[in-house]
Amino acid sequence: MSYDQDLAPIFATDCVSCHRAGNARGGYAMDSYAAVMTMVTPGSASSHLVTSTRSGGSMYRYFSGDAASKSELVRRWVVENNAAQAR
Ligand code: HEC
Repeated sequence: MSYDQDLAPIFATDCVSCHRAGNARGGYAMDSYAAVMTMVTPGSASSHLVTSTRSGGSMYRYFSGDAASKSELVRRWVVENNAAQAR
């Protein structure tokens, strides 16, 4: 699993419309790895990115398609994969 191959495409489709340089809602841009990482502590399930995208979190509703799988992918990427950028 990696940011470049697995997470960036999801963020581009579902999140970047409101979270990008020049239009960063909540002060959070998600259009680069470095920007995404400002809400991530590698290995930590308490990371804002994880808590806001889990079921019941404020951003969960924005996942298109299979939200449950996307939510779980984000959690695993941060907690188990230490938010790796590349494979
Ligand atoms: C329609 C606009 C919109 C979309 C789409 C959107 N967000 Fe947000 N996001 C916001 C706004 C507004 C805030 C700040 C207010 C709030 O926290 O609700 C925010 C805040 C956040 C925060 C900070 C939460 C915190 O705990 O401080 C994170 C992380 C986040 N969004 C992640 C995401 C992710 C991941 C996606 C894609 C699945 C996403 N957002 C999609 C509008 C959006």
